[in-house]
Amino acid sequence: MRLYINVDHVATVRQARRTDEPDPVRAAVLAELGGADGITVHLREDRRHIQDRDVDLLMRTARTPINLELAVTEGILELAEDWRPHQATLVPEKRQEVTTEGGLDVSAPSAGNIRNALERLHTAGIRTSLFIDPDPEVVRRAADLGPTAVELHTGEYANARDTHGIQEQLGRLRAATELARELGLAVHAGHGLTYENVMPVAAIPGCEELNIGHSVVSRSVLVGIERSVREMKELLLRASGA
Ligand code: PXP
Repeated sequence: MRLYINVDHVATVRQARRTDEPDPVRAAVLAELGGADGITVHLREDRRHIQDRDVDLLMRTARTPINLELAVTEGILELAEDWRPHQATLVPEKRQEVTTEGGLDVSAPSAGNIRNALERLHTAGIRTSLFIDPDPEVVRRAADLGPTAVELHTGEYANARDTHGIQEQLGRLRAATELARELGLAVHAGHGLTYENVMPVAAIPGCEELNIGHSVVSRSVLVGIERSVREMKELLLRASGA
């Protein structure tokens, strides 16, 4: 099971002040030291967190593969063709959403654009993945479009509150994984995974990659804050000659 760490929310904190810290590229280096198998970034059309500069630098400095999440839009597709990351994951994108809300719409009106995008990415030598809901019909339609992999949306699993709901959502994820594998696809999963809920998903047979962002960045704020404050306090003490 590969762990890809999504560093978008390091950039979210930076963009809150439009400054240069914290740097998601530096965070990626540390994530790699921590054992990440790859780094995921979502370059959104509105550039709300990750900037072109971040992907550019990551492409030149990361020691692990980059998974670029992108919507099917011309400008970002051109950038992906130029950067040639190891992997591109096509995701839906809406301006108003706080985060990616559902899987890609792979039904007829959108299918042609997705198919074209996949062809362009493959021509550029990029492995491809489609972020989809864990639904059998969606898995079949996604497989028809010819990606290398699908990333199953784990948001409904993460949001399930009682045992019955959690088991039901796990069942959907297991069945979708099995079907996707039968159809020749590699299977990834992600969204809303946390330290509390990750293990049953990590144990799904056939699922080979998880993308996790918010929970890891959130935890790093907490497990790192004590040291950060201590270091600032030391500077104040030194300045006052104590
Ligand atoms: N996978 C995809 C396709 C996503 O869009 C996101 C969120 O950017 C993630 C995984 C990671 O989700 P989270 O930040 O909730 O771990």
